[in-house]
Amino acid sequence: MGRIFSGIQPTNRLHLGNYLGALKNWVTMQRTTEHDCIFCVVDLHAITVPQDPAQLAQSTREMAAAYIAAGIDPVKSIVFPQSAVPEHSQLMWLLSTITQIGKLDRMTQFKDKAGKNAEKTGLGLYAYPVLMAADILLYKATHVPVGEDQKQHVELAREIVGTFTHRFGELFPEPEPIIRAQGARIMSLRDGSAKMSKSAESDMSRINMTDDADLIAQKFKKAKTDADSVPSSVEEWEGRPEAKNLLTIYAELAEEPMETVFRQFGGQQFSALKTALADLAVEKLAPISQEMNRLMNDVTEIDRILKDGAQRAREIATPVLKDVQDRMGFLRL
Ligand code: TYM
Repeated sequence: MGRIFSGIQPTNRLHLGNYLGALKNWVTMQRTTEHDCIFCVVDLHAITVPQDPAQLAQSTREMAAAYIAAGIDPVKSIVFPQSAVPEHSQLMWLLSTITQIGKLDRMTQFKDKAGKNAEKTGLGLYAYPVLMAADILLYKATHVPVGEDQKQHVELAREIVGTFTHRFGELFPEPEPIIRAQGARIMSLRDGSAKMSKSAESDMSRINMTDDADLIAQKFKKAKTDADSVPSSVEEWEGRPEAKNLLTIYAELAEEPMETVFRQFGGQQFSALKTALADLAVEKLAPISQEMNRLMNDVTEIDRILKDGAQRAREIATPVLKDVQDRMGFLRL
C-alpha cells in the first residue's frame, strides 16, 4: 500500500491556484485511491517568512477548515498541524546533515522569494526544502500531489532518499510528485508570466477562496488580456499566456475538456469569457467558503479534529524517526 502526503502553508488566504493546483486534486485522490492520505497544515513552513504570532494559530485552523470544506474527510484522511508532531523538526535536522548545500542553491523558489536580499534572509527559508523532505519521508509517503512550483522540492526529497539509502540502507521509498497536466500552474490575473501567489503584492492578481461575488467579478473583469478575441485552439493561445490562463481556469472549474471550452468561447470577446468565469467561480467557491465559515464558528471542533489527526500522524511518525536514529547510530536509553 502506498501513502499520499501533501500540505499547504497557513499564510494569508487560500487562493484559486492552491485550490486548482493542489486541494481539488487531493479531494479527487482521497475519493479514488486505495492509499492512506495525510494532509498537513504546514505551519512550520509558514514561519520561514515573518508571521504575526497573534494570527498564526487562527490561520492554521482556517486552513484546516478549508481542507475540510473543500471535501477532505478528516476521518478517512489524517489532517493535522505540522508543529503538533515534533518529529518533523527532528527528522529535518538529521536529513540536513546529508543534504548538500549545492543542491539547496539550485532551488528556484528560494531565489524567487529571497530576491536580492539573500544575505539577510533567515536560514529557515533556505533550508525549507529539507523540512519538506522530512514531512514526506516521516510517513514513507509514495505519492505527493502538488502544483508545478513544488516539483523541484519533491525531486530534492527523492535525492535525499538516495543519499540516505546509500549511507544507511534502504528505509524510504522514493516519493513521486503527482502534478496534473492542466491547472498545476495557475497564473496571476495581472501578469500571465507570474504564478498566482499569496505573496504577490496586488490582491487583484489572485482570487481568494473567501472573496465575495462582487470582488470575484471585479477581479476577472480587470484581469489582463490582449487585444485579440478569445483563442479557439491550443495553437491560437501560443504566446498569449493571459488568455491561456483564463481558459484553463474555466476548464478546471467547470471540469470540462478544453475542446468544449474552446467551442464555447473561441472567437468571442474576452468580456463574455470573463462574465462566465466570474459566475462559475462564485458557483464553485461560495459553498466552500460558506462551509469554512460554518466550521470556523466551532473552533473547539476544529481543534478536536486537529488533535486527533496529530495523534494518528504521530503513531506513524514515531517509529520511523526511531528507525532513522538507530540507523544513524544514536545511543538509545
Ligand atoms: P504552498 O503553501 O506554497 O502551496 C500549496 C500548494 O498549492 C500549489 N500552488 C499552486 N498550484 C497551481 N497554481 C498556482 N499558482 C499555485 N500556487 C501554489 C503548490 O504547488 C502546493 O502544492 N512547501 C509547500 C508545502 C509543503 C508540502 C510539504 C507539500 C510543505 N511540506 C510536503 C507537499 C509535501 C508550499 O509551500 O506550498
